[in-house]
Amino acid sequence: MEIVSSSDIAEKLCRQARQSKQIISLVPTMGFFHAGHMSLIRWAKEQSTMLVVSLFVNPAQFGPDEDFDRYPQDLERDARLAEEAGVDLLFTPEARDIYPAGFSTWVEVESFSHFLCGSKRPGHFRGVSTIVCKLLNLIRPHMAVFGQKDWQQWIIIRKMVRDLNMEVDVPGRPTVREADGLAMSSRNAYLSGEDRNSAPHVYQGLLHVRELFHSGQTKIEVLENLLLKYYRDNLPQAEVDYVRIVDAQTLGTSRQAGPGSLAAVALKLGETRLIDNILLE
Ligand code: PAF
Repeated sequence: MEIVSSSDIAEKLCRQARQSKQIISLVPTMGFFHAGHMSLIRWAKEQSTMLVVSLFVNPAQFGPDEDFDRYPQDLERDARLAEEAGVDLLFTPEARDIYPAGFSTWVEVESFSHFLCGSKRPGHFRGVSTIVCKLLNLIRPHMAVFGQKDWQQWIIIRKMVRDLNMEVDVPGRPTVREADGLAMSSRNAYLSGEDRNSAPHVYQGLLHVRELFHSGQTKIEVLENLLLKYYRDNLPQAEVDYVRIVDAQTLGTSRQAGPGSLAAVALKLGETRLIDNILLE
């Protein structure tokens, strides 16, 4: 495995790989690998002959009061895990290389970026779309793989790729969970012992709403209120950002839930913001 921090060198290696007919897949990450990352990496490995993983804690997607300065990092461990999983190129750029002085071009998928997580994190998805656009232009992979825990992010990237005619597939892979159901996230490392014990309720609430849907309740307003009630009863300490039931593909809202609906939640336990979602189907 090569570890490359220069974007010029990464670009050159990937160009050569494409010229020699390699099938390149990219897994964009911010590092501090957990089983969710590893499942994306292993799946991507099976789809390609050259596997690139980018590891970059992207300052542009953090708000001023967010956790950029304390985002967990362990490059040595990540590099070991990546090598064991058969990664060919670990791309670890520096912020000054990605955003040199004078950088002033941003990518924003307007229609999808200002609600759900976007309403609580202004500018977040602009930062995500911009870095992913840059990574896709540098690496030019045949496929870029995303986790469905960040469902809105995945939908936004797919829309960007369509709108900007970028020639890349963007498969989404299912959320990987701890044994108790908590969605894997690097931010779980921030949870206090007590919050970690109650955090599985985030997913339990989503299972509960899916059960209600399966037993015939399809009114979105009712389902959202019952989900909110579940969190008030079971996670009274949580600060709920949103509970929403939306169309999984368009993220649009309506009155009735259907098989293509997605229930999504974001809430804070202590200082830790957790997100999760479930397809009602
Ligand atoms: O999901 C993430 O880890 C990040 O948002 C991504 C896609 C690597 C962009 O920085």
